Amino acid sequence: MSIRTLRGMRDILPDEIPLWQEVEAKARELFSLYGYEEIRTPLLEELSLFSRSLGDTTNVVEKEMYSFQDKGEKMIALRPEGTASVVRAYIEGGQVVREPVVRYYYIGPMYRRERPQQGRFREFHQIGVEAFGIASPLLDAEVIHMLDLYLKSLGLLDLETEINSLGCPICRPKYHKAFHDFLLQNQAVLCEDCKRRMDKNPLRVLDCKEEDCRKLTEEAPSIQDHLCEVCEKDFDLVLETLGHLGSAYKVNPRIVRGLDYYIKTTFEMTSTQLGSQCAVAGGGRYDGLVRLMGGPNIPGFGFAIGQERLIELMKTGCTVQASKKSVFIAALGERAVREGIQLAEKLRKEGLRADIDYEGKSLKAQMRFADRSKAHYVVILGDDELKKKAVVIRDMTSQNQEEVALNKVIDYLKERKV
Ligand code: HAM
Repeated sequence: MSIRTLRGMRDILPDEIPLWQEVEAKARELFSLYGYEEIRTPLLEELSLFSRSLGDTTNVVEKEMYSFQDKGEKMIALRPEGTASVVRAYIEGGQVVREPVVRYYYIGPMYRRERPQQGRFREFHQIGVEAFGIASPLLDAEVIHMLDLYLKSLGLLDLETEINSLGCPICRPKYHKAFHDFLLQNQAVLCEDCKRRMDKNPLRVLDCKEEDCRKLTEEAPSIQDHLCEVCEKDFDLVLETLGHLGSAYKVNPRIVRGLDYYIKTTFEMTSTQLGSQCAVAGGGRYDGLVRLMGGPNIPGFGFAIGQERLIELMKTGCTVQASKKSVFIAALGERAVREGIQLAEKLRKEGLRADIDYEGKSLKAQMRFADRSKAHYVVILGDDELKKKAVVIRDMTSQNQEEVALNKVIDYLKERKV
């Protein structure tokens, strides 16, 4: 039997690559205008980096990590997300001491051993940002607005921003207690997972996808009614600033996120076109995380976009990038092939995509190949043409062809649109 990709993993084939490149290029361009610099961290890290930062009772750490012992040494894991690694690098590289206010972005694969389904993979890709050293709620609004602009620049106009505040170490324990009391009274309705988790981490219950748990929590006390004065004021400022910047939002007290490091503002960008895995991006504030990981008390805020989900939406929606003008050189005979290779080099130097058949096959065979490979123009180069120092250029869309002097080929092709 032939070997296939692992469950939940997939190849990204050349057909799809222009979209991947487009979303990555747009992210680099826009995020750098806001002062974000790229950071790249290893795919493998010590397991404890994730268990400590994401939380022992989160689904990701409890069930979804690809972890193993490294040949009798440490327990290590494939990264399930980017924030923990970026925080580690921020502390380890000394940036936290040199200049704590810094903004990073990253693009790369993440690994979670989830049950695969539409929009959910075991290897998936994130485009994420992390901003350190800024406690102001104005930053929260600015980052969410930047993400909103980014998604709109890709033609995704109907996403919803769902936003919540999870409170701070002062007000959250009071909410935990009220919520936990409610769960205790209604324990019988909860699924096994939630029964087990409700003591250690009651907010996870709000994340549960089980119908009974969801229904029950609709009547539960809301975090929005338990925020302390500071959190309430800060959250109001985030919402007000989003309004001023022109980004729409909906307050949703259920946005508690699946990872433990969040406090205060949390948010998700969702789409109705993605089925049950509707979150294209998610993030929020994680002011205690740098300290928890061994650094000083530095605030942080960030988000990550699921690249597969983003691209799925772009495919069903709008922009498909026009590919570069492409030229196929049909060289007939050995001498023509040698001449053709030089011509191909000149075309590439001028920014045109050029391909050639090295074997000098029949014109019919080469024209068929040019058609299959979606060339926009074919340059026909044979012995006769060589003698005349000319070529024949065929426009593959209109099927018209013209004789053109060899030294005019580049100008001729550059002047024409695809
Ligand atoms: P997250 O919500 O776990 O947050 O993931 C962010 C996004 O990654 C999701 O909204 C989704 O689009 C995508 N995603 C997650 N799991 C999968 C999967 N199995 N298959 C496909 N796509 C998936 C984080 O990872 C945080 N680190 C975000 C953050 C950065 N918070 C602050 N800074």
